[in-house]
Amino acid sequence: MKDLISFGAGNMAQALIPPLAVDFKVKAYTPTKTRAKELARLTNGDVLENLDSLEADVYFICCKPQQFDELASQLKNKLSREALVVSLLAGTTLKTIKEKLNHQNVLRLMPNTPSQFGHGVTLFYSDQQYTDFIELLKKSNLMVEMNSEDQLDRVTAITGSGPAYLFEFGRIFYNALLEMEIEAHTAKEMVAELFLGSATMMKEREQDFETLREQVTSKGGVTYEALKVFKEAGLSDITNKALKANYLRSQELSQS
Ligand SMILES: NC(=O)c1ccc[n+]([C@@H]2O[C@H](COP(=O)([O-])OP(=O)(O)OC[C@H]3O[C@@H](n4cnc5c(N)ncnc54)[C@H](OP(=O)(O)O)[C@@H]3O)[C@@H](O)[C@H]2O)c1
Repeated sequence: MKDLISFGAGNMAQALIPPLAVDFKVKAYTPTKTRAKELARLTNGDVLENLDSLEADVYFICCKPQQFDELASQLKNKLSREALVVSLLAGTTLKTIKEKLNHQNVLRLMPNTPSQFGHGVTLFYSDQQYTDFIELLKKSNLMVEMNSEDQLDRVTAITGSGPAYLFEFGRIFYNALLEMEIEAHTAKEMVAELFLGSATMMKEREQDFETLREQVTSKGGVTYEALKVFKEAGLSDITNKALKANYLRSQELSQS
């Protein structure tokens, strides 16, 4: 069995790595050990107590971007030469990772929070092909290859931040339901089922989004009236503007 070492064992590591435990013997390292123990338990693996001996086939970099410099200084020139480094670091380029680790085989992954529930969309980018490894990740994620790091940043504005936009819509619906005297717990369940049911229709039905929308909108009816308000207020423009702001901020952050 091949060896995988994860540096960092937080939310994303715990979402992405356990399905790989069928193919890899997992070791987890974190400074406090607490979350490393959790990941070791989830993968039937071990806690890596220190950074003295680091031989492995795959390394996952799962700390926060601002923690990477310190970690990289401890790992530089200590990783197995031919191994694959998989980085989850948002906004940290291949070039930076390669330089800081002095390592050539690097793959960037950009997962999103629903990957914790088996419904993740994970973007990936590298300057080399890692087809076999990507196939393993496909078992538990929708994997989408990016053609550049710029495309990765642009698409992340939708897939990475998208859950927050949908939660904001959810919050608005939830508050409206409370105003209509629906009890809080029921209101939350109603919104969740609404999203889940609509997402299921998107997946199961062949039609495009416009057709799906038209099927629940009769001309001159109630839904039509509500959608007209969205259109007149420029919902498409507002949304595209928000996506652009997200992308520009990602550029600022990656340069800081
Ligand atoms: N959350 C998202 O939606 C999302 C989406 C895409 C990409 N990402 C990226 O995924 C990465 C992890 O995010 P997360 O949400 O999983 O973070 P998290 O839950 O905060 O986990 C971070 C982990 O890094 C560990 N760590 C801190 N310093 C370290 C060091 N010097 N060496 C090794 N490990 C260290 C922490 O250890 P302790 O447990 O000891 O504190 C913790 O286990 C980030 O780079 C983020 O940019 C996140």
